[in-house]
Amino acid sequence: MINDLLKEAEEFIRSCFRELNKTEQELENRLDEINQQILSQGYYGHTAVELEYGAKVAWRNSNRCIGRLFWDHLTVIDKRSVNTEEEIIEALFEHIEYATNKGRIRPTITIFSQKAPNKTVRIWNHQLVRYAGYKTEQGVLGDPHSVSFTETCINLGWEPKFGKFDVLPLVIQINENHPKLVEIPEILLLDVPIRHPQYKWFEDLNLKWYAVPIISDMILEIGGITYSAAPFNGWYMGTEIGARNLADELRYNMLPQIGNLMELDTKSNISLWKDRALLELNTAVLHSFKEDGVSIVDHHTAAQQFKKFEEKEMEIGRSVSGDWTWLIPPLAPATTHIFHKPYTNEIIKPNYFYQPKPY
Ligand code: ARG
Repeated sequence: MINDLLKEAEEFIRSCFRELNKTEQELENRLDEINQQILSQGYYGHTAVELEYGAKVAWRNSNRCIGRLFWDHLTVIDKRSVNTEEEIIEALFEHIEYATNKGRIRPTITIFSQKAPNKTVRIWNHQLVRYAGYKTEQGVLGDPHSVSFTETCINLGWEPKFGKFDVLPLVIQINENHPKLVEIPEILLLDVPIRHPQYKWFEDLNLKWYAVPIISDMILEIGGITYSAAPFNGWYMGTEIGARNLADELRYNMLPQIGNLMELDTKSNISLWKDRALLELNTAVLHSFKEDGVSIVDHHTAAQQFKKFEEKEMEIGRSVSGDWTWLIPPLAPATTHIFHKPYTNEIIKPNYFYQPKPY
């Protein structure tokens, strides 16, 4: 255990100090300090500089992310000193407001205290902003992805609203304490009603999506230290909403309705009605976000940006690993360069990892 930590810490500090052009002396001093801390108390703490570098590199190492060109432009908010559920909630509200930035989305991470034998902070939400899903006799109302978390919230005392796009409350837990549940103030929430540049009827579907995807259930691992609450966000790629969240049969499943409204032959596979409906739904998503001044990227631009990331990394002498199955966009994958080359899915740390659900 201790030996693993010593090793992981040293490996991280060496690469951190090398990339940040620290001197050999600074490196040796820091390694001594960390060794002493680990041997005397069983863990060590990162400096603010190490924390920021670690969070950024964890993004750079995220094999499934196509948006990594911007890894160095991550705002890191250090909330390690925060101790109560109330302060955590306050910090999460600040994160939402800062990251949303009235639509000019800023990639941001807020980092709470590291996991220790006597301290674990958990955010139960998958994303800070997410729509509820309710199981009913006629199927799921809202987002099927949220069904079990929604039930958890209701059991904790949340009042269900039974709408299609109800923003779930934040659920925060410190140690084994009873989790705290709080509603996100309306004023902090930005969402985009989805309409189509040509099809007037599209708005009658009453679709919308929230502006900022803030993943809040993954751990950030840096140099052997685990941050179990470290919510982070970028901006959306259109297909995440248009080709998955609103389209998947197991999510909002909107293609049949859109196909019908487009008067396509939804009885025939060879009419390619799903492909046509999908295309118009994605057009509508990009159009609506753009028109509302909310940051979003289309999958062609994102792939070009990823190419630039690969070139930059290559120049610096780092290899880029990737998870091909996640990197290819779900729409027109073969029109991007990513489709046509292999990637090695090697896991490098620092990185973001899944952790077991607390509920
Ligand atoms: N795919 C997830 C969603 O649709 C969001 C994952 C993170 N995406 C991002 N662009 N940073 O909600």
